[in-house]
Amino acid sequence: MSAWDRLDIRFLPRYSGFMKIRSAMCWLTCAFTTTLALTACESVDIDPSVAERPLPRAGDPVDAELAAAGETVFLRSCVACHDWEKPLVGPALAGVTERRSPEWIRSMVLSPDSMLVTDSVVRTLHGDYPVPMPDLQIGEVRFRAIWEYMRSR
Ligand code: HEC
Repeated sequence: MSAWDRLDIRFLPRYSGFMKIRSAMCWLTCAFTTTLALTACESVDIDPSVAERPLPRAGDPVDAELAAAGETVFLRSCVACHDWEKPLVGPALAGVTERRSPEWIRSMVLSPDSMLVTDSVVRTLHGDYPVPMPDLQIGEVRFRAIWEYMRSR
């Protein structure tokens, strides 16, 4: 008699309603993140030399063309979770250029995963939101455009 013959199906875990819902949630989260990553990959025309410029301060003059490209990137990659006035999946961003330094925002956008581990401000913020901010592979050039857009608001 093999081990399979002795197996009693009553003791096997059931594919219960709870597991169905949990599995559906996993698929939804996965589809959501994939869609975000794919739309983020569509190219926006930005002069790559912007990455070589010094990082502007919040109140510095704005490069309007770069800010417009940044709005496009923001609308594709960030609005799913961020509004300016009210919290959604992530915090409302109004006033963020005053409450955080340019370097801090850069780290948050480029490597949210390590910020969640190393930065106590992000860990505290995260307590209020269901999922952590994902790494959207924004890169320096697109970050510079987003930063210009944030400063222009
Ligand atoms: C899947 C949802 C999601 C997406 C997409 C997302 N964020 Fe976030 N973001 C969050 C959450 C949640 C937090 C709060 C910190 C945490 O829990 O990781 C956050 C925090 C932030 C903060 C800090 C806010 C503060 O009050 O200090 C900034 C800045 C930010 N995100 C910018 C962006 C930008 C720019 C993009 C697009 C490139 C983006 N986020 C895309 C969810 C998201």
